[in-house]
Amino acid sequence: MLLKCPLCDKKLLKQGLKNHILNKAEAEAYKHANLLAQMVYSAYCPSNAKVYDAFGGGGTRGFIASMMGHKYLGVEIRNEEVDRIKKRQIELGHKFEIICADSRFYPILEDAYDFAFSCPPYYDLEIYSKMEGDMSNAQTYEDFLAMLRQSLEITYKGLKKNALCIWVVGNFRPNRGKGELTHFNGDLVRLGLDVGFKLHDEVIFWGGSDAAAQRAGQFVANRKIVRVHESLIIFKK
Ligand SMILES: C[S@@+](CC[C@H](N)C(=O)[O-])C[C@H]1O[C@@H](n2cnc3c(N)ncnc32)[C@H](O)[C@@H]1O
Repeated sequence: MLLKCPLCDKKLLKQGLKNHILNKAEAEAYKHANLLAQMVYSAYCPSNAKVYDAFGGGGTRGFIASMMGHKYLGVEIRNEEVDRIKKRQIELGHKFEIICADSRFYPILEDAYDFAFSCPPYYDLEIYSKMEGDMSNAQTYEDFLAMLRQSLEITYKGLKKNALCIWVVGNFRPNRGKGELTHFNGDLVRLGLDVGFKLHDEVIFWGGSDAAAQRAGQFVANRKIVRVHESLIIFKK
C-alpha cells in the first residue's frame, strides 16, 4: 500500500517513506544553513576577509565564505568529517582550509582574523562521536560549557581588534529533548563576556520548516512548543 509523504504529498511504500522524509528534512536544513551563511557574510563580514570557524563541521560556512571571496579556516575534530568536506571541495570546485584538530587547543595566529563565524555543538542534542574532546560527548552540561569557553578564548585571541564574532546557537532540552529547557544562548553570552568579548547584538531568526509544522501537535501532549527559531549571538573584540 502506498502512503503519502506529509511534507510533499509524494506517495511511497512504507519502507521508502521513512528515508524520504529524513532526506527531505535534511535538504531543508541544508538550504536554510546556506541562506543563513550568505546573509551573515553579506551583512557583517568585511570584503576579502580572513574568517575563523572553531567548529568547521558541515562545511557550509566554509563553502559560502569561499564562494563569496573570503579566506576561511575551519577547525573540526572528526577526521572522517574533514575527509568528507575535502571530497566535497573537489566535487564543488571550491577550496578552503579545513583542519582536523580540537579547537580548544588550536595554535591560532594572534590578531590575524577579520571575522569569526561558528555553530558549536548544542551539548548532547546531536552526538557527533565518542571521541575525547568532542564537546557533544561531555559528561555534564557544565563540563561542556568549560570546554566551549576554551574554544571561545582561542577565537578571541585570533581576532583583530573590533572584529565581529558570530555564533549560531539556540536554547534546547538535553537528553534527547526530555530534559529541562537549557538557556544555552544566555550561557554563551556569559562565556563570551568572560573571555573578553563585548556583546554587540543578538538576532533571532526563524528556521521553521514543514517538518516542524508536522510536530506542532505535540504541544497538546506536553505543553512544550516546537522550537522554530535560533539566535545569532554577535560579539565584538
Ligand atoms: C554544530 S556542528 C557544526 C556544523 C553544523 N552542522 C553546520 O553545518 O552548521 C558542530 C561540530 O563541532 C565538532 N566538534 C565537537 N567538538 C569539537 C572540538 N573540540 N573541536 C572542534 N570541533 C569539534 C563536531 O564534530 C561537529 O561537526
